[in-house]
Amino acid sequence: MTGKLRLGVNIDHVATIRNARGVRYPDPLRAAHLAAEAGADGITAHLREDRRHISDDDIQSLSEKIDLPLNLEMAATPEMLAIASRHKPHAVCLVPEKRQELTTEGGLDVAAGRDYLASYVSALGEAGIRVSLFIDPEAGQIEAAKALGAPVVELHTGSYCEASGGEVAGELERLVRAAKMAEGLGLECHAGHGLSYDTVGPVAAIATIVELNIGHFLVGEAIFSGLGGAIKHMRALMDEARAEALARPRPQASA
Ligand code: PXP
Repeated sequence: MTGKLRLGVNIDHVATIRNARGVRYPDPLRAAHLAAEAGADGITAHLREDRRHISDDDIQSLSEKIDLPLNLEMAATPEMLAIASRHKPHAVCLVPEKRQELTTEGGLDVAAGRDYLASYVSALGEAGIRVSLFIDPEAGQIEAAKALGAPVVELHTGSYCEASGGEVAGELERLVRAAKMAEGLGLECHAGHGLSYDTVGPVAAIATIVELNIGHFLVGEAIFSGLGGAIKHMRALMDEARAEALARPRPQASA
């Protein structure tokens, strides 16, 4: 897979700022329109069970009023399945959710949760929604995602982004191996969580990854350079890293 690397802009934390005051601004829909102008290929929003940021009304207005594909992140619960079936977003990314966590800590345990996840993957697929599973970059999770029939996996980049010193290369290598394995099994591979200007390049250089979903850093950076400027800069870093990786000579296969 050597096509363009897509950028999904996650607008959850525009809603976090709005909800901190219980008012109507800043509006995630406005952020989604701005992201489209700045070069996003999709909009991602996580409707959490506790509605701490994105609300049901946000999902409704995003579904009705944006032209870009909407990627709805959600837990595998009957309530969320009913919401997805009603709005029929372009894609759903199934994520694990714990009420007390600050953010999505770690990927879905698809290998252990096979039985309960199977009905969600098939119901969403039958509704014409592209399903992805947010997983840690581990062989067992990728095999389990394939066995469930999910067409897409999204690799959790949190451990790589938080790594320091000598750990970074190892965490990156886990992502490289996982992305290669996913492609080998015919799965579309996405990645995201915690990516910033400093960490995006090496992930964007993994040619078997076709989409990155990025949010928190962009909303934070918007304070300094505006949301459009932050998205454009992220897009440029992704495109540069991908172009450089594709221009590099491939290692020769040994005879
Ligand atoms: N991908 C998934 C599946 C996520 O749950 C999140 C966080 O909501 C992201 C990407 C984006 O992570 P961040 O906001 O740290 O960029």
